[in-house]
Amino acid sequence: MTDPRPIGVFDSGVGGLTVLREIVRRLPAESTVYLGDNARAPYGTRSDDEVLRFTRQAVDTLVERDVKLVVIACNTSTAVALTDLRRRYPLPILGVIRPGAAAAVLASRVRRVGVIATPATVRSHAYFNAIKEENPAVEVYEHATPAFVPMVEAGLLSGRDVEATVRDALAPLLGERDASGEFIFPLPSSARIDTLLLGCTHYPLLRPILEAVAGDHVAVVDSATATASALVDLLAMNGLDVPGPVDRAIHLQLTTGDASAFHDLARRLFGEGFADVQTVALQGSAA
Ligand code: DGL
Repeated sequence: MTDPRPIGVFDSGVGGLTVLREIVRRLPAESTVYLGDNARAPYGTRSDDEVLRFTRQAVDTLVERDVKLVVIACNTSTAVALTDLRRRYPLPILGVIRPGAAAAVLASRVRRVGVIATPATVRSHAYFNAIKEENPAVEVYEHATPAFVPMVEAGLLSGRDVEATVRDALAPLLGERDASGEFIFPLPSSARIDTLLLGCTHYPLLRPILEAVAGDHVAVVDSATATASALVDLLAMNGLDVPGPVDRAIHLQLTTGDASAFHDLARRLFGEGFADVQTVALQGSAA
C-alpha cells in the first residue's frame, strides 16, 4: 500500500521549515504542504487557549487540502495541543517534542540536559516530562528564551546584536563568560549541562551562534532530524509512503502573512527559492 497524498507540516511561522528541510532530504519522493501562521506568530508568548484555537484552525486548513498526515513542526503547538489534535482528527499527527527529547537523552553523557524553548513550551513542562520518560535519571533544566522567535521571523540570524541577545538569554543556563570568552561558571559543577536541546523549531536557524555561545563542551541538539526519522518510520509502518519517483513530488507553501515576504525570508534562511507560496486566511487569522 502507498499513499501519494502530501504530508502536511505546520508551524507558527518559518521555524518549521527547519523540519520541512529534513523531511524533504529524508523523503524526496513525498509531496508536502507547509503552513506558517506568520500573521499571528509568535505563538510562544500567547495563552494556551489561543495556541490551541490557532493550531486547530491550521490543522483544519491542512486537512481540507487532503494531507495524509500532519507534522506539528512547532514545539509550542505540540506542547499545548497534540493530545487534543490526536483526539480530534482521524489521521496520524506527529509532534516534535518526543523525537527531540529522545535525541537529547542519547546525546548527554553526564545526564544533564538544558532545554531552551518558548514561554508556553516551558510552562507546559512537556520536555521535562518527555525526557524523564526516556530516562528518569536525566536532570532537565528548562529555560524560556522569548527574544529568539521575533528575531528569526524578522530574518535576523547573525551580527553583534543577535549574538549579544543569545549570550544574555543563555547565561542563566550556561554561566557567564569572562572578557577572554572563557566561561566563569556561577553554576555548581553538578548543575552544568553537556547538552542543549533547541526546543523551538525556529532556533536551529540560530545554530551557529548558539553553538559558539554554548562552547565545545555542550552538544547542541534539535528535533528536526529526529522528527524526520520518526516520520520515515511512521510512513513505512502505516503503508503511507511513496516509493517514487522523486520528480513527481510537489511542495506547496502556505502562509497567513505576506507571500512575497515569506518567500524572501525562506530564501534568505535556506538559500533556495520556494516556487509556490500562497497566502491563505485561516478562520480568525486576520484578527
Ligand atoms: N517554532 C515554534 C516552536 O517550535 C513557534 C514559536 C513561536 O511562535 O513562538 O515553538
